[in-house]
Order: sequence, then structure tokens, then C-alpha cells
Amino acid sequence: MGVVKKICCIGAGYVGGPTCAVIAHQCPDIKVTIVDLSQARINAWNSNNLPIYEPGLDEIVFGARGKNLFFSTDVEGAILEADLIFVSVNTPTKKSGMGAGMAADLAYVESATRKIAEVAKSSKIVVEKSTVPCRTAESMRTILDANSHDHIRFDLLSNPEFLAEGTAISDLLNPDRVLIGALQTPEGLKAQQALAEVYSHWVPRDRVITTNLWSSELSKLAANALLAQRISSINALSAICEATGADVDEVAYAVGKDTRIGPKFLKASVGFGGSCFQKDILNLTYLAESLNLPEVAAYWHQVVIMNEYQKKRFVKRIITKLFNTITNKKIAVFGFAFKKDTGDTRESAAITLIKDFIDEHAHVRLYDPKVEESQIWIDLSDVSGADAAKKHVTLFPDPYSAAEDADAVVIVTEWDEFRDTKLDYQRIYDSMKKPACIFDGRLILDANKLRKIGFKVDVIGKNELAGKA
Ligand code: UDX
Ligand code: ADP
Repeated sequence: MGVVKKICCIGAGYVGGPTCAVIAHQCPDIKVTIVDLSQARINAWNSNNLPIYEPGLDEIVFGARGKNLFFSTDVEGAILEADLIFVSVNTPTKKSGMGAGMAADLAYVESATRKIAEVAKSSKIVVEKSTVPCRTAESMRTILDANSHDHIRFDLLSNPEFLAEGTAISDLLNPDRVLIGALQTPEGLKAQQALAEVYSHWVPRDRVITTNLWSSELSKLAANALLAQRISSINALSAICEATGADVDEVAYAVGKDTRIGPKFLKASVGFGGSCFQKDILNLTYLAESLNLPEVAAYWHQVVIMNEYQKKRFVKRIITKLFNTITNKKIAVFGFAFKKDTGDTRESAAITLIKDFIDEHAHVRLYDPKVEESQIWIDLSDVSGADAAKKHVTLFPDPYSAAEDADAVVIVTEWDEFRDTKLDYQRIYDSMKKPACIFDGRLILDANKLRKIGFKVDVIGKNELAGKA
């Protein structure tokens, strides 16, 4: 395989869309076609209202679309003409059958792979982009070999994506590293170089790491597991802080100053969410179990158990502080996305929290600046049933109306607009029932400032004794 001139990306989601849009933007000499089975999704990518909210994404897409970047449902046509194909389809956790609740559902990867084998009339480099369990490439290779036409070569690479939502474009434009795994054969190494060449349009060569296929697949799971482990570690410490009067921000700052530990991913919170962390750790756990390594499986599983505990602990603290009952109380929830600067709600802590509030018969008054209303109802109906969700949850267009007459405000997502430098908390206080309580699940508020207004303030990883003898 020589120089890559045409790229096809199968799957126009959170990974495939931004990644391949940036490749098109940075490589004007390469034609990039992003395909998806969903006509609605492709229509949105071709409109002025892109299906994904990411800072900076509009400029990148609008700049390249129609020139060397195309969105289409013609999966077969795009496969036919491509030299290199990214497989960026979804790999959700299995809901039933063997490995349910743990293993990744590879049905979409398999069907995309079968499609490539069926359609291709010339040799292709096929690249795993979706996060997949270790050794998925082996299954893809078997499918490709068993179904392809004569004289066609498929070279399989693993090129996991490390972008984080909300910062996807800057992560893609300036990645810490690009990882490309290949079979250590002459053909595999040639394909690896061809993809490295694509990235060399804008990524310095020393940031492109080349490894064997399995190291690349496992590195993606390992990176996410280690990041999530840091959050569960600081969240475990936040429980000790609340019980002792230590301040979790101070502890995180103090330990993060050790260059061996470093300051990032030590922000205590109501629990991590997002499409990757939980899924990937469960994947890793399942892999360890399948390899008959139960101690390893239990070790990683504990990261997820701690995350669930953190959410439950926060709900319990809220109920306790609201005089041991929230039945019929009005709880204003600020934020529904799993983190700021995204409209994505997958595995958002807000979903678990609101389900618990509904179970306690509270009235939830919800505001999020970006999440689509329809998505909120889908997520809440999934966990609580549509009737209970509609009965107990009301959506508001701004934080002020959500907080009106509420017993408590709960900060669930760290949107900048919720900070006390941006919102008028005096106005919020004046409109609430008294005592007016505020629960900061993201450590974004100046508790003392709010206490001066009159709020009763609770912050994860802090208690009112903090700093007192
Ligand atoms: C993550 C990885 O960072 C990324 O490399 C990978 O490609 C996909 O998974 P993402 O899920 O988009 O990215 O967001 P991330 O910024 O990692 O946050 C995940 C969750 O952890 C969010 O709910 C966030 O609020 C939470 N978090 C993050 C904390 O609670 N504390 C922190 O210190 C950092
Ligand atoms: P991710 O966060 O991994 O990008 P998403 O769910 O956002 O996951 O996107 C995956 C996309 O892949 C979806 O838009 C889905 O319609 C698409 N998809 C799944 N299977 C196929 C397939 N066989 N061919 C084309 N597109 C597919």
C-alpha cells in the first residue's frame, strides 16, 4: 500500500465525526468520506446544525465540507474507493447473553467488517478506531480473510482515539500521542507507515508511537482505566475528607505537586460518566476474568464500584441534610451532561442521581445548557419509566426558573455558567424556600461566599469543620 489518498470512516459518531473532520482539515490532499447507516445523522452532518456539540468543530467541518470532506449514507461506495478505512462504530456494553453488563458488544464492528470484506474490490488498510477489547483485530482479520475476493489484501491496524469530549478538537489538533499498532510483518509495518504518513501532516513524528497490534488495543483500555482509577481514588479520599475535616481540593493540590503523581484527573466529583470509562474498565475486568485472572479483574472492578458508591453517597448526604426526607420537595438540578462543554449524556451521574430523587418522590427541576430535551426524556425513561419521569421531572430554560421555590440546588455538571462569578446566587437564594440548601457535586463554588448570602452549603470532599481546630 502506497500513499493514502482516499479515506473512508464508517461511523459518524462522537469519535469518527470529529477525528476524520480534523484529518480532512489538516490533509487537503486526502479525500475523506464519513459514512453512517443513520440518514438522520448524516443529514445533520450536512446541515448547519451538526449532530455533536464540540467547541471548534463547526469551523473545522464548515471549512472542509464539500471540498475534501463528505458525509454520506453510501457505505458501499465509500468503501469501494478508499485506500484506508477507519472503523468507528459503537461498541456498547452487552445488555444480555454471555458477558452481559461487562463485555463489549462487537456486533457493529463485525457487521462493518463483513461489509468491507463483501464490497472491497481492491486492497485496503482497515483501521480499528473504536475502542475494542484486546485481540478484536484477530476476529476482524479472520472475517476479512474468510470473505474477501481473490487477490485483495487487507492490512489491519489499531489506532485508538484518545480525544476527550468537550476538548476533542484541540486534542486532535495537538495530541499527546498518536498510537498505531500493526502486525509485525513487512506488510503490516508498511501499512503502519502509510497511516503515520497521514498524521505527519500535522503531528510531530516523535509523537507517533508504533507498537504491535495487541499493545495498541490494550493501551487504550489501560489509559482509560488508569484515568478512571485516579478519579475513584480521589473520590474515595473525598469520603475521608468529609468525615475528618480535611479539604479534598487541598489534598489533591498537595499530592498533585509531587511530579511523580501530577495534578491532572484529581478533581473529586459526584462520579465519572461518559461513554468510555465505565465501559472500558468493565471490558478490562471481563478480559481478566476470561484469562482466569480473578484478582486482576477484582482490582479493576473496584474502580467502578467506588464510582457507584460516590453517587449513592452524594444522594444520601442530600437526603440527610434535607431533614431525612425529600418526598415532595423541589430539587433544582443544574446540569445533565456527563461533563461540561458537551451535550453527551452517556453514563452521566445526573441520570443516576435523578433516578434516586424520583424513587424518593421528589420533584426535580432540571436545567442543562446543551443537552437536547428529547435526550433527557430518553435517558430518564430508560431508568425510571416514562410515566414516573414525566411526573417527577420538569425541564427549565434557565437556572433561575429551575431554582424558584426549590428546597435545594444540586450542581451535577461543572458548566462554567454555574460558577458564582457567573450566576447571581443572591437572586437564586431570594427565590428559594428557606433554609435554602446548595449541594456542590463539582467543587466549583466558593462555599464561604454562598454561606454569607445565607445558603446552607455542602460540597463533596469538604465539611463545615474544614480548617477549624
Ligand atoms: C475519556 C478520556 O479522557 C479520553 O482520553 C478517552 O478517549 C475517552 O474517555 P471523556 O469521557 O470524553 O474522555 O471525558 P473525561 O474528560 O476523561 O471525563 C470523564 C468523566 O470523568 C467526566 O464525567 C468528568 O466529569 C469526570 N472527571 C474527570 C472527574 O470527575 N474528575 C476529574 O479530575 C476528571
Ligand atoms: P462513538 O462514541 O464510539 O463514536 P457513536 O454511537 O457516537 O459512538 O457513533 C457510532 C456510529 O456508528 C453511529 O452513528 C452508528 O449509526 C454508526 N454505525 C454503527 N454500525 C454501523 C455500520 N455497520 N455501518 C455504518 N455505520 C454504523
